[in-house]
Amino acid sequence: MSDNGSPLTITVRIQRFNPDVDRKLYLQDFKVAWQQGMTILDALHTIKAEQDGSLTFRRSCRHAICGSCAMNVNGRNMLVCEQPIKAHLNRKNEITIRPLPYLPIIKDLVVDRTTFWAQYMRVKPWLIPPENIPEKEFRMSPEEVAALQDAEHCIMCGACYSACTVVGTTKEYIGPHALLKAFLRVMDVRDSAPGERLADIAGSDGVYRCHTIFNCIDACPKHLNPTRAIETLRKLAQKRLAFEAARAERQKHLDKPVTSG
Ligand code: FES
Repeated sequence: MSDNGSPLTITVRIQRFNPDVDRKLYLQDFKVAWQQGMTILDALHTIKAEQDGSLTFRRSCRHAICGSCAMNVNGRNMLVCEQPIKAHLNRKNEITIRPLPYLPIIKDLVVDRTTFWAQYMRVKPWLIPPENIPEKEFRMSPEEVAALQDAEHCIMCGACYSACTVVGTTKEYIGPHALLKAFLRVMDVRDSAPGERLADIAGSDGVYRCHTIFNCIDACPKHLNPTRAIETLRKLAQKRLAFEAARAERQKHLDKPVTSG
């Protein structure tokens, strides 16, 4: 309901593009009856079900977990399944939805994430364990867990990657998503290849390519800080051999917890 009690009709403006018939991108308006609790994704579903079945977008979990529904709303990247649409309406009750920037458009709101995933795989995002795996379990101290800075909460939605102006100029750049994943592995005391990882990301398309503009922080729906992780990686890359030696020493005692002072 609107403030005066009448049903609220909102305008959802969506960027459309069908490569089979369209030569250019265009914006199309849809009128939708707002419902209490409606998310942006709910509005897209309503349009697809009731007005235009050809509208194409990605979504899966509807709970901000899978990362597939990341889109650009009124100029900001976000997960549309977790955003109440009313919070994003302008004074005329309009909202504008576009696909993630800097990525090729496949159709409507669906982008081609090939480079995004290729850069992710490039940093070997899996754990490379030491040869002497503890018989029972790895033991990490609270400080060692805290050093990961919640980077494991990244859901790979692409919001940071497509908000990055460096990605906008070159797809050679590894990108904030993959560098955050590299940070997670480098900082993890269970990983036995921090030196190799630091060498891999220290090139001109890695940590030194970041312009520290902070767009990735603004875009992250999980409130992570890829910029800070990249800065840490820069510092560690400069003392790579010492860091590598310290890790090897720490891995001799992975079955025992380490506590601070
Ligand atoms: S649908 Fe899975 S994060 Fe939005």
